[in-house]
Amino acid sequence: MIKVAPSILSADFAILGAEADDVCRAGADLLHVDVMDGMFVPNISLGLPVIKSLRRATEMFLDVHLMIEKPVRYTEAFCSAGADLVNVHVEADSQEELLRAIGIAKAQGKKTGVTIKPGTPAEAVKPYLGLVDLILIMTVEPGFGGQRFMHDMLPKITLVRDMVNAFAPGTEIEVDGGIDASTSPLVTAAGANVLVAGSAVFGKPDRAAAIREIRENAAV
Ligand code: DX5
Ligand code: ZN
Repeated sequence: MIKVAPSILSADFAILGAEADDVCRAGADLLHVDVMDGMFVPNISLGLPVIKSLRRATEMFLDVHLMIEKPVRYTEAFCSAGADLVNVHVEADSQEELLRAIGIAKAQGKKTGVTIKPGTPAEAVKPYLGLVDLILIMTVEPGFGGQRFMHDMLPKITLVRDMVNAFAPGTEIEVDGGIDASTSPLVTAAGANVLVAGSAVFGKPDRAAAIREIRENAAV
C-alpha cells in the first residue's frame, strides 16, 4: 500500500497544530518531521520542543527524519518528545553508534529507520536490513524543501527494493525530495511505498486533492 507523508517543513509553523489537522483530514498516512542541526545539513529547522507540542496537537504517526550529527546523543530525547519512528542518516556517525541509536529507539517501543543521501550507495543500508522498519532514500540533497527531484536516484530505489525483498521483506521504502503527482509514478514503479511530500502538499491550497493525486498516480 502506498502511504503519503506530508513534510511539515513546508507547513506554516505559526499554526502547526492546525496544519497537522488539515493534512490528517486530507488523507495523509503519516506526518514527516524534518529535524536539522545546521551541521549535518546547511540549515536549521526545528527540534524537541516543537515535536513535544506537535505530539499534544495530533494523533498522527510522527515520522522523525533526523538530519543531525551523531543522532545517538538525542535518540532517547526524540522518543520521549513523541516520535513514533526515529530515522537516522547512515552518514551521520559510525555503524556502531547508529546501531546503538536504533537499539535505544527500539527499547522505547519506537519504530526505526535509516536514511541515505544521494551520494551514498544502496549497499550502505545492508548492515541495517532486518533491524529497521523503514529505509529512506533521499531524492534531493537533504537540507531544504522545494528542490527538484533527482531522476538518477531511481535505479538506487530499485536496488534497495531488491535487497529488501531478498533479505528483509516488509521493510518500508520511503523517498523524500521533489515528490509530487508527476514523480510519484516513477518512484513507486521503482519500488518505493512511502512518499514524503512537502511543497507538493503544504504548498497547495487543497491538500486533499494534492494527496489524492500523488496516491492515484502511484504505479501500484
Ligand atoms: C529535505 C527534507 C524533506 C523536504 C521535502 O531535506 O528531508 O522532507 O521537506 O520537501 P519537498 O517535498 O518540497 O521536496
Ligand atoms: Zn525529510
